[in-house]
This record gives sequence, structure tokens and C-alpha cells, in this order.
Amino acid sequence: MGEAALSFPPGFVWGSATAAYQVEGAVDADGRGRSIWDTFCAVPGAIANGDTGAVACDHYHRYPDDVALMASLGLGAYRFSVAWPRVQPDGRGAPNQKGLDHYRQVVEKLLEHGVVPYVTLYHWDLPQALQDRGGWPARDTAYRFADYAGIVHDALGDVVRHWITLNEPKVSSHAGYGGGIHAPGIRDLDLRDRAAHHLLLAHGLGLQRLRAGRHTAGQQVGITLDLSPVAPASPSADDVAAAERLDADSHRMFLDPILSGAYPPGVFGSSSLPDFVAPGDLDLVNGPIDFLGVNYYRRMLVRAAPTGHLRAETVIPSGTPVTAVGWPVEPDGLRDLLVGLKADHPGLPPIYITENGAALYDEVGADGQVDDPVRVDYLHRHLAALHEAIAFGVDVRGYFVWTLIDNFEWAEGYAKRFGIVYVDHDDQSRVPKTSARWYGQVARDNAVPGRPPGDRGPMQN
Ligand code: FCB
Repeated sequence: MGEAALSFPPGFVWGSATAAYQVEGAVDADGRGRSIWDTFCAVPGAIANGDTGAVACDHYHRYPDDVALMASLGLGAYRFSVAWPRVQPDGRGAPNQKGLDHYRQVVEKLLEHGVVPYVTLYHWDLPQALQDRGGWPARDTAYRFADYAGIVHDALGDVVRHWITLNEPKVSSHAGYGGGIHAPGIRDLDLRDRAAHHLLLAHGLGLQRLRAGRHTAGQQVGITLDLSPVAPASPSADDVAAAERLDADSHRMFLDPILSGAYPPGVFGSSSLPDFVAPGDLDLVNGPIDFLGVNYYRRMLVRAAPTGHLRAETVIPSGTPVTAVGWPVEPDGLRDLLVGLKADHPGLPPIYITENGAALYDEVGADGQVDDPVRVDYLHRHLAALHEAIAFGVDVRGYFVWTLIDNFEWAEGYAKRFGIVYVDHDDQSRVPKTSARWYGQVARDNAVPGRPPGDRGPMQN
């Protein structure tokens, strides 16, 4: 028998997370405009297997069933994103009422089932029309985002309490404009840095709009960042310096201005701030947030590299299991990350884990069921580590598994499955996996069933 159950604080939120382009499909429905992901998916070789989000999980039409499913599993919250091109097809000007109505209906359906909505305003699907005018490297895009945020908030502020301005701005800037592996597929360091700053500015301006608009009592506004604890692969000065460069570029470039109103010195490659950081910008970026959303997937163990802009690369310690997307499975990294955040940032706001989960190659068995013990083990270990961080005093209010349904995993397409619910992409049928029932029970009990067997031991994939 396992040890005693690990109870979470009363009121702890248990949910699942998705993003519009990854699940909705229906790209031509009800006046939706084109997004940079529609464009990028059409670039030969950009997405594994030539997959696109054009149909995805058809969640745009099937959300009533999906909401009923999450409620039947026992989940109390749903984090989803609003597609900007549904609300403003060209990224500016008058709203498309049908787009707003859709999200109103989604929220009403959630509330009807007792599932609390957590709305992300931007999860990477920039209207293509704004990219045509320069995209995130153009300062104007931040002001366009603020208008869009105001429109969505005017439409839903009376029924939605929890708002996330941006999901993982680093991935938008660094993968979209630096590495070019995400939409819009640009590789230019200067544009990347401009994009990063304008995303942060958009967050700051968006915060202002959400605070100023008419809203429900107890409104909570935050932002979601992808964070990893970073450590040098060896004590050598070169590896230590490489780890610091990568940490600054990946994390502190975003965390520091949001929490402390300043960029880490030298993060833009020179000792002075670049001219695209205008006076007053950092005060906006540093506007108070009610919570920090943390997406956790892995640690970053870093060694010096001879080439590349940061002259740093991550390594995976030998023997560490990896998921189908090649990410090392390191549950204790979640605890270490949270404990480190608390130590480094005295005024740290409450935290929600807005994403955590594993990609696997799940299959339907002969009995029609999808058994995914590896995902159950992954979740169990991460939740045990999260429990430790809470016991240590980190103020964590909730956890959202990534993700509810197998979906379009960006450049990886559909082959690698992150869902707790299996989706047959031919007929759109849904089959809750073993992990869905396990996680639903955790949500109902507000407790994890003891430590996972052989805790801290290696995991197999
Ligand atoms: C995060 C994204 C999310 C999903 C997971 C696996 O970076 O926010 O959309 O793709 O990774």
C-alpha cells in the first residue's frame, strides 16, 4: 500500500488547459480572420507531417460535449484562450460579434457545469493582418493588443474573473522571430528582441485595460511564463557563465521587468537599453499582477557551446527519461523552480501552474480503452513535487494539466499526444485515458494518493 494521501490546501483549483489554435479548428467559421499560424502551417516543411490546425479537435463546435466531459471527470476549472482573429479578423477596429458570442457561450456552458473559466487573451495566434504590418516587432501591435483585450473584457468581464494576458511571451518572440520554428517563422535577433519587448508592453497595456474596465468583484489578472530551473552542467566558469546567459535570455528577460520593472543588465547585447524601450514602458510592464502563471515542463542543464548567439546549449543527464517530444522528465524541478522563485522574488504573487504534462504515443487498446500508466506516473510525481513546494511555503493556488484533449502540438503536429483524453483525429471521438480518471479523482479528493511507487526512481517511456 502507498503512503498517506497528499492533501492540497482547501480551495485548490484543479483544471485543464488548452489553446484556441490547437483545439478549435473551424478556421473559416463565423467571420474568423487569418492568423499567423494559418499562414505558417502552409509553409512546406514547417509542421511535422504537413499537419495544420484547420480542423484540430473541432472544439469550436464540440465545446458543449468537451465541457460536459471535463465536468464529468471532476475538473473544476478550464483554462482556454480566445482567438484574436475571431474577435478582430484584421487585428484592429470593430469587433466581430459572432466571435465574441462564441466565447460568451463557452463561458456560459462552463458556468452551467460549475467549471470556472480562466481566459488567456493571447496564445500565439496573431492576426495575419497585423503581421503584415510588422507583427510583434512593431510597437503598434502592443496597442492593438490592448484594444483587443479591452473588447474581450467588455464582453466577458461580468462572467470571467481570471484573466491571463499572454501565454509564454518568450516562445512568441524567441521561437517565432528568433529561431523561426514557430509562426511567423522569422530568424532575426533584432526583430526577436523588439518582439519580446512589445509583447511585454502589450501585457502592461492590457493589464491597464482590464483593471479599468467594468468587471466582477475579485477579478484576478496575471500572465503565464514558461519557466525552468537552470543549472550549469559542470562547475567550470564557462558552463556557469553559459547557464547565466541562457537564464537571462529565457527567463529573466521576462520575469525581471514584470516583477521588478527592469531588464537584466546586458540582456539585449549592450550595456544600455535599446531605443525601442521607451520611457515609461517598464512602469507599465511592472504593473501589479494578482498571480503569476507558471508553465513547467523541464529543467535546463546548461553547458558552454562554441557557436550560437548565447554560446550555450542544454544537455539531458544520461539516464533521464524523456517524453515523446524529447523533454526530460524531472518532477523535482517543479519544486525547485517554485522554491527558487519565492527565494529570488520577495513580492512574488500567488502562483498557478497553468501548464504541466507529458507527450506520449498513446494508442487505443483492443478493448477500446487508452491506458497511459506513464502519464499517470508523470502527473503523480509532479503533483508530489508541487505538494512539497506548497509545504515549503510557496503560495500555489491551482494546477492545470496540459492538456484536456490530444491536439495540434504546433510544429510537432498531431503525432505526439499530450491529452488526458484521447482524440481520434479521423472521427473526432474522445476516449478518456486512464490518466483522465486518475486526475479527476485527484481533483475530487483535493489530494494525490500518496507518493508514487518508487518515488524519485527513473521513469520509463
Ligand atoms: C507550451 C505551450 C502549449 C503546449 C505545451 C506543450 O509551451 O504553451 O501550447 O504546446 O507547451
